[in-house]
Amino acid sequence: MNHMTGIDLTVNANEIVIAYDDFGNGKLPIIFVHGFPFDKSSWQPQLELLSKQHRTIAYDIRGFGKSGDGAETPSIFLYARDLIAFMDVLEIDKAVVCGLSMGGYILLNAVALFPDRFAAVILCDTQCISDTPEVKAGRSKTIDLIKSGGKKEFADGFIKKLFSATTFETKPEVVSAINQTILGTDDATIMGTLSALAERDEMCGTLSKITVPVLILCGESDVITPLDQSKLMKSKIPNATLHSIGEAGHLSNLEQPDIFSEHISQFLSKMTG
Ligand code: MLT
Repeated sequence: MNHMTGIDLTVNANEIVIAYDDFGNGKLPIIFVHGFPFDKSSWQPQLELLSKQHRTIAYDIRGFGKSGDGAETPSIFLYARDLIAFMDVLEIDKAVVCGLSMGGYILLNAVALFPDRFAAVILCDTQCISDTPEVKAGRSKTIDLIKSGGKKEFADGFIKKLFSATTFETKPEVVSAINQTILGTDDATIMGTLSALAERDEMCGTLSKITVPVLILCGESDVITPLDQSKLMKSKIPNATLHSIGEAGHLSNLEQPDIFSEHISQFLSKMTG
């Protein structure tokens, strides 16, 4: 099938402009959904590695990167509807969708609402629980901090939790690129999304209904969505495989891009035979 390929392509979906990168060819596209507060560039290694064999697409969630923000109040449910609208516009009936952290929250919501649109699901450094009261309180403190001009302070604190010790030591360029992405994200988007994250629904109760193959990946030293959360999801999903990734924290796809992408590649080759 012919489709546009390249970086920073745009479509209108769900009344916003969605920016996306699209590389490679294949019957079953892989769509990547980024975490908070990042953008599609955080999937660049996967697009590079996996587009040799698959059609790979990464898009900016509304308000992030180069996508428009629209007038609606942000919610994980809205972001899930955006994903489906984006697939509709690209005329993708079914895809393999891979979501990291908030991308995973969005994916779990989208799968619960539109199960027929997914050929397989890849959940990375994510969880099915909702926010505890303590986490919610932390998010509202962060909103106050951003409101008072403290985005840099937020970024400095958040970065410390994102990566493994090995990544800080050996991949400073990865750390600094993510820092730039956070600092480049609009204050309004950060604050609106923090509220959306705090209000999100618990999705653990929906996992037993997922019938397609699921791959779960998690950095061994992820402190934001720890490995135990991945184990919990695996125990509830009928057809799930879990791999932990050594020397990686919350951004395992950037910290160990080759191993991470190889897991996806093997998962897809088992699926398609
Ligand atoms: C993310 O990486 O998407 C966020 O850290 C998720 C969260 O804060 O719950």
